[in-house]
Amino acid sequence: MTKIVSVHSFRGGTGKSNVTANVSAQFAQMGKRVGVIDTDIQSPGIHVLFGMDEENIDKALNDYLWGRCAIEETAYDVGTKLGEGEVLVMGGGIYLIPSSIRAGEIARVLREGYDVGLLNDGFRALIDKLHLDYLFIDTHPGLNEETLLSVAISDVLIIILRPDQQDFQGTAVTVDVSRKLEVPNLYLVVNKALTSYDFEALKKRIVDTYDAPVAAILPLSEDVARMQSADLFSLRYPDHPFSEGIRNIVAAIEAAS
Ligand SMILES: Nc1ncnc2c1ncn2[C@@H]1O[C@H](COP(=O)(O)OP(=O)(O)O)[C@@H](O)[C@H]1O
Ligand SMILES: [Mg+2]
Repeated sequence: MTKIVSVHSFRGGTGKSNVTANVSAQFAQMGKRVGVIDTDIQSPGIHVLFGMDEENIDKALNDYLWGRCAIEETAYDVGTKLGEGEVLVMGGGIYLIPSSIRAGEIARVLREGYDVGLLNDGFRALIDKLHLDYLFIDTHPGLNEETLLSVAISDVLIIILRPDQQDFQGTAVTVDVSRKLEVPNLYLVVNKALTSYDFEALKKRIVDTYDAPVAAILPLSEDVARMQSADLFSLRYPDHPFSEGIRNIVAAIEAAS
């Protein structure tokens, strides 16, 4: 059975794309077949983590949504990643469905919207055509129609928050809505926690506040920031505390029923 995993946050800049890319790469490294879809059509970006430039994106999710092609034609094999004199090979196979970074394409989505139902059909077609073990959905922040759809069809929902009062409030709303949509497995991930914090105490506070499990607390890290989303941190630096946290999220997803 394929697991659909949505990664969401109430606010932007929380680390959705970095977490999604790293967790999905870990699964590919374990020999799984993985799809990663960027449904953050208004502010796409996860393609950067997989080393894809705008010039390499011939067809994007937008083309599928406008009826220009089948969704599988927008899937790119990103299983090999070049680094400084190093090549990473992500075992089982990993396919990225990017959103277009072209201003005209983004403007069209904002102006005209799109048929959200097509996303659902697209997810199913990808799972089927690419024989996926996991489909990761990197969502747009906040609650909107496409987010609700992704959440509603997910087997696992990861909600990322920073230790910030604005995130705390917004996350409460998101958790509430997800419960109403009866997501089978909901995990919280705290990102950008100051290393001076007591992580265990923070975890307990989050669990008590939301009555939901915390899959990981990821440290605010200069090393991660320095990478500027240009690479897959957890594959390059597996021993780093951030990478350890990524593996905890992997374990939580594996354990989800
Ligand atoms: N734990 C972390 N420590 C430091 N910087 C981080 C961390 N996680 C993410 N970032 C940085 O935060 C920014 C936003 O991350 P991103 O994954 O694009 O968030 P989102 O997809 O939620 O908008 C990026 O510059 C990224 O490098
Ligand atoms: Mg993002």
